[in-house]
Amino acid sequence: MKKILAILMAMMILATCSVAMADAPKIGITIYQFADNFMTLYREELVRYLTEDCGIPAENITVMDGKNDQAEQSNQIDAFIADNVDVMILNMVQSSSAAAVIQKADAAGIPVVFINREPSAEDMALNGNFCYVGADARQSGTMQGNIVLAAENKGDFNGNGAVDYVMIMGDPENVDAQYRTEFSVKALTDAGLTVNELFKQRGDWDQTKGQELAATALTQFGNDVDVIFCNNDAMALGAYQAIVDAGRVVGEDIMLLGVDALAECVEMVNEGKMTGTVLNDHVGQSHTAADAALKAAAGETLEKYYWVDYVMVTK
Ligand code: GAL
Repeated sequence: MKKILAILMAMMILATCSVAMADAPKIGITIYQFADNFMTLYREELVRYLTEDCGIPAENITVMDGKNDQAEQSNQIDAFIADNVDVMILNMVQSSSAAAVIQKADAAGIPVVFINREPSAEDMALNGNFCYVGADARQSGTMQGNIVLAAENKGDFNGNGAVDYVMIMGDPENVDAQYRTEFSVKALTDAGLTVNELFKQRGDWDQTKGQELAATALTQFGNDVDVIFCNNDAMALGAYQAIVDAGRVVGEDIMLLGVDALAECVEMVNEGKMTGTVLNDHVGQSHTAADAALKAAAGETLEKYYWVDYVMVTK
């Protein structure tokens, strides 16, 4: 019996993320901006997992707010390098700044795990022990389109033979915004539907901007609007308010789509206030990022990419 217990306990230790305290690495983390709903969930889970599940002492982990300012974030990264951290987990303000970081980190022998904002393929081909952990944004766009296709009227409420849509984009420097914008519509055209883009503007992932843009589009195009695609849920929350203010009803005369599956949006999908969203798995992504960081800090060579799947969320 004792033997079985001992084996079981050994298995449990192996199954959880666990690092001996004496070896605990020093980890530098910077998030593009703390004022982002999704990245707040991600950051909190990342730190919780590293401390509670992996046993990294909190004092070994530094988490900085990039404040959506690349110059400020670059200083934070320089400070991590000067401080000789064992590994960095970086959510870049501008993914185009990844190349400079990869070169500096490589020169200092510090591995890097990029998260959430995918560097270009060209930058990913540079030398160094670094990787990208994320989700393929093409998938989330396609899933948004598929949610529209699953409806009986396929998104054509006004019966003009086309899906007349409004597109509220995230920060267009970010591939998540580019791909979700492209692939949501591509799913419709691939299925043979006619689409009509009424309005497309950047809302920078922000709820207030999402509301303002949706209100503008609804004022300008009125009942012509069949579908509002938002590149994320925060902007969809804003757009929902604009839809209500315009006297429109989701599911009856308009569709509303987001991405992330924030708890309040999943609730809205259940209540029919949103047509659908797509789970952007911050738990899977943060755990994968932490695991990769700990491996790299222990001297392992990273793969280039670690992918986590999106999941469609409908009623
Ligand atoms: C996306 C997410 C957005 C926003 C953005 C920041 O993946 O869907 O809500 O957090 O990342 O880069």
